[in-house]
Amino acid sequence: MPDGNEPELDTYQPADERLTPPESFVDQANVADPAVYDEFTDPDAWARAADMLEWDEEYDTVLAGESEPLRWFDGGRLNAAYNCVDRHLDERKNQRALVWEGRLGERRTYTYLELYQEVNEFAAALRSLGVEEDDVVTIYMPMIPELPIAMLACARIGAPHSVVFAGFSADALATRMNAADSEYLVTCDGYYRRGDAVSLKNKADTACVTVDEDVTTVVVDRLDGFEYTLGEDEYEYGPLVEDHRRERVTPVARDATDDLFRIYTSGTTGEPKGVTHTTGGYLSYATWTSHAVLDIKPADTYWCSADIGWITGHSYIVYGPLALGTTTVMYEGAPDHPEKNRLWEIIERQAVDVFYTAPTAVRAFMKWGEEYPEQHDLSSLRLLGTVGEPINPRAWKWYYEHIGNGECPIVDTWWQTETGGILVSTLPAVKDMKPGAAGPPLPGVGATIIDGDGDEVAAGEGGYLVIDQPWPGMPQELCEGRDWVERVTEAAPPLDSFDWAYPTEDGALADDDGYITILGRVDDVINVSGHRFGTMEIESAIVGVEGVAEAAVVSGTDEVRSDSVYAYVSTTAECGDEDRLREAIIDAVTDEVGTVARPKAVVFTPDLPKTRSGKIMRRLLEDIANGEDLGDLSALRNPEVVGEIESAVDPD
Ligand code: PRX
Repeated sequence: MPDGNEPELDTYQPADERLTPPESFVDQANVADPAVYDEFTDPDAWARAADMLEWDEEYDTVLAGESEPLRWFDGGRLNAAYNCVDRHLDERKNQRALVWEGRLGERRTYTYLELYQEVNEFAAALRSLGVEEDDVVTIYMPMIPELPIAMLACARIGAPHSVVFAGFSADALATRMNAADSEYLVTCDGYYRRGDAVSLKNKADTACVTVDEDVTTVVVDRLDGFEYTLGEDEYEYGPLVEDHRRERVTPVARDATDDLFRIYTSGTTGEPKGVTHTTGGYLSYATWTSHAVLDIKPADTYWCSADIGWITGHSYIVYGPLALGTTTVMYEGAPDHPEKNRLWEIIERQAVDVFYTAPTAVRAFMKWGEEYPEQHDLSSLRLLGTVGEPINPRAWKWYYEHIGNGECPIVDTWWQTETGGILVSTLPAVKDMKPGAAGPPLPGVGATIIDGDGDEVAAGEGGYLVIDQPWPGMPQELCEGRDWVERVTEAAPPLDSFDWAYPTEDGALADDDGYITILGRVDDVINVSGHRFGTMEIESAIVGVEGVAEAAVVSGTDEVRSDSVYAYVSTTAECGDEDRLREAIIDAVTDEVGTVARPKAVVFTPDLPKTRSGKIMRRLLEDIANGEDLGDLSALRNPEVVGEIESAVDPD
């Protein structure tokens, strides 16, 4: 019996246009032969991804495990840092590996040789602090070069890293450290937010008080002279690395199935969802997709503007691009500081070939106007990409015309923290582009769209996107077949008709050519500017505030950030002043989750709309936030509350 909480899967704007990639792009592309789609007849075809890496011991099988656990490249041994750094030394030790553009206009460059030295020294330092193979090292840093250096140093010694986005709160850091049993933390004194120095060390200190283990901490000096206190078991990065100058650490050969890193994302429970990516499968997949989709070449200067705190930065700033031996750009600042031409100025100065960003950024660029990119020579660009959320055809076209000058293909890449790398996208030299649709599944990737009964839907009909074949970038949890997908959506379809299935929790539809358009999440996860938050996570911060009886958060549309958090709150009798309570709610979300999840609106309501079975009807709240027609309210137990909520909504 439908209860009104089913996802909206029918709101589709068909992509009505197709564009062919320019010949000049096709002629030089890494993958230009359409036959690539036919070459993936069985899992062995994935050898091509693994064979892009150097292995200490060759794998015996591409995909082992009749049932569970699945093991990609079983028997193989390799080291990720060796593959991203050492193996390039012969051919390109003086080529730039990492280019850093700092918040205040500072610049730093590391050649492959310099990166090799720094990674070795920090690996030696971590060892000297007691870090052993398989110890989880948490890294909590803004976008500074020491962040990828620390990741690679961990990889070198076989210690899985767990990078926590620097915008997350102390509570969020502590939860992730506890979940990973992590006893080591690499952080820094602070970072710049809108030009002001903000302490990160204080947040790390607050977190460590509630971490179960005794924590050993390394603190990078980012702010140069910013005061902080160094406690017991806390070390400054600079002097520590100095103690290990010129030391070399032999890369530890890891089993292909060994953990490379842990990353936490939002699921449908209040707890963050831990995802573990493997050394062989993940690295092969990040490398292959960087080659095939992002068309990265060693001679390129490549820039992904994501933050390394999220999976995009792991796969497509650090591991994929460096495994291919390219020059990867890392930017610490904001796109509009000091001026709104900041990104275009960097693209011109660095002669960036490939630029990969988020639709939310494209919408902001579009709002600011084309006069900013027009001030710069962007002719070095060859390919553009987007990731994290749907890009509407208008923003797509603006990006195509004003950034790509109508000459660069755009790849709209669909993937998730869980998938490790891109699963759905056009191959830019092989497939036409359809603005608004991500594209077909990549070669070797199986995707099906099903209805609520588990049956495949017809072309043009919305349904649930299911990946129905294993792929090398799949996380360890999925390889082990753990009951790990949190399927709380009541309308979630049965998967019995599949031999193997990963339900992505995204709604989607495919057109007659198999191009997939993503319709958004179907679970209780909301996507704020391409960042994932569980509604439960935010709600539990809100209900912890005195005076709050019940809360429901949904996403509302905003012109630039596709989605923002709208919180609907019912209060207790003695809740006091509403403005003060609103402030306390916003502070609680900021403290417990992070500033990225800050509600745009807090709407007080005498009651939340509920179904007859007592479930909060989020769909309705979402429609109210977005000013949409509310349709049939018959499933509601308390329809009288709707009018009151509508009149209380003030999107500003
Ligand atoms: O809803 C989809 C959306 O982002 C979700 C995954 O978020 P996260 O794990 O944080 O990873 C983001 C970066 C890979 C997906 O379930 N999403 C991601 N890419 C796209 C997208 N929605 C539409 N189009 C995309 N290209």
